[in-house]
Amino acid sequence: MRILGIETSCDETGIAIFDDEKGLLAHELYSQVKLHADYGGVVPELASRDHVKKTIPLIKEALATAGLTPADLDGVAYTAGPGLVGALLVGATIGRSLAYAWNLPAVAVHHMEGHLLAPMLEEQPPEFPFVALLVSGGHTMMVDVKGIGEYEILGESVDDAAGEAFDKTAKLMGLDYPGGPLLSKLAEKGNAGRFKFPRPMTDRPGLDFSFSGLKTFTANTIRDNGDDEQTRADIAYAFQEAVVDTLAIKCKRALKQTGYKRLVIAGGVSANKHLRAQLETMMTNLKGEVFYPRTEFCTDNGAMIAYAGMQRLKNNETMDLGVKAHPRWPIDQLKPIADKEA
Ligand code: KG4
Ligand code: ZN
Repeated sequence: MRILGIETSCDETGIAIFDDEKGLLAHELYSQVKLHADYGGVVPELASRDHVKKTIPLIKEALATAGLTPADLDGVAYTAGPGLVGALLVGATIGRSLAYAWNLPAVAVHHMEGHLLAPMLEEQPPEFPFVALLVSGGHTMMVDVKGIGEYEILGESVDDAAGEAFDKTAKLMGLDYPGGPLLSKLAEKGNAGRFKFPRPMTDRPGLDFSFSGLKTFTANTIRDNGDDEQTRADIAYAFQEAVVDTLAIKCKRALKQTGYKRLVIAGGVSANKHLRAQLETMMTNLKGEVFYPRTEFCTDNGAMIAYAGMQRLKNNETMDLGVKAHPRWPIDQLKPIADKEA
C-alpha cells in the first residue's frame, strides 16, 4: 500500500509518499519561517495563501522523486486538525479533491496522532504500550498509548505549550521566530548554576503542565541582571533546564503511574538535544527505553501524516466527499485500531 501524505496545519507544507513495504519513497518540506519572521509569529492568512502556492508543486515533486504517477497510489491522507483552520482547509481541499480525481480513498489525519506515530518511521520503532510526551508549538500532552487510537490523556498544559513557551521566551530575549531552536543554541554557551528557574507544578501531584510563568520569570531575570551576551546565554540555559527538568519529572511520574518502561517523545520540542539527553539518562537509570523521531520528523512533516493515514486506511476509515477541517480535535476522540501491529 502506498499513501500520499499532506500536512498544512501551520507554517510548514509537508508532502510525503509512504509505502508499507519499501518505507518512505519521498518527502518534501517547505517551511514558511521566513514569511512569518518579520511578524514574530505565524500570520494565519499568509500561511493559508502560501500553502495554496506550495502544496501542488510539492506533490508533483514528491511523485517525481519517487518515480511514481497517481495511478501507483492507494490513498491520500491529509491533516484535518488540530491547527489553523485556513491552513488546514488548503490541505484538506487539495487532498480530498485529488483523491476524488484519482479515484482513491481519502483519509483525514489527526496532526498530533501523526506526531505520536512519527517514531514508527524509525528503524527500531517502539512497541505498545508506552507513555508519549507530545511537545509541540501548540500542544503539550502526556498520553497513555495502548495501541493506535487508544489514547488516554494523562496530563496537558493548562496554559502555554512547551514550544510556545520556548518561542515566547526567545522573543523576549530578542531572538527571531521561531525562537525554540535559537534559544536552545544560545543555551549551549550558558553557564549552569548562575540562575535557578522554578519547575512549575512539580510540587503537587498530577501530570498537568504550566509554562507561562517561566516567561515572566525570564523577563524579571533580564530586568534584574541586564542582557549582556553571557547573561542572556545563562538565562537561556536556566530556562531550558527548567523546561526539560519539568518534562522529565512528569515523564517519570507517568511511567510510575502506568507501570510502563517505554517512553516516546515527539513534536517540535522533541528535537531539543538537552531534552533527549536528559531523558536518555533517566530511562537508562529506570532500565527502560526512550524513542523519538529523527530530528527532521520531530517538527511538522508529511511523512508522519502519510504513515498515520495508512494505519487509518488499513482500518477502513475513509472520508466522504465533504471537505472538513477540525481546528480543535481532542486526540482521545480517535477510534482504536483493531490490529495493533504497526
Ligand atoms: O511540532 P511542531 O513543528 O509544530 C506544531 O505542531 O506546533 O513544533 C514547533 C515547535 C516550535 O515552538 C519550535 O520553537 C519548537 O517546536 N522547537 C524547539 C526545538 N526545535 C523546534 N524547541 C526547543 N528546542 C528545539 N531544538
Ligand atoms: Zn506539529
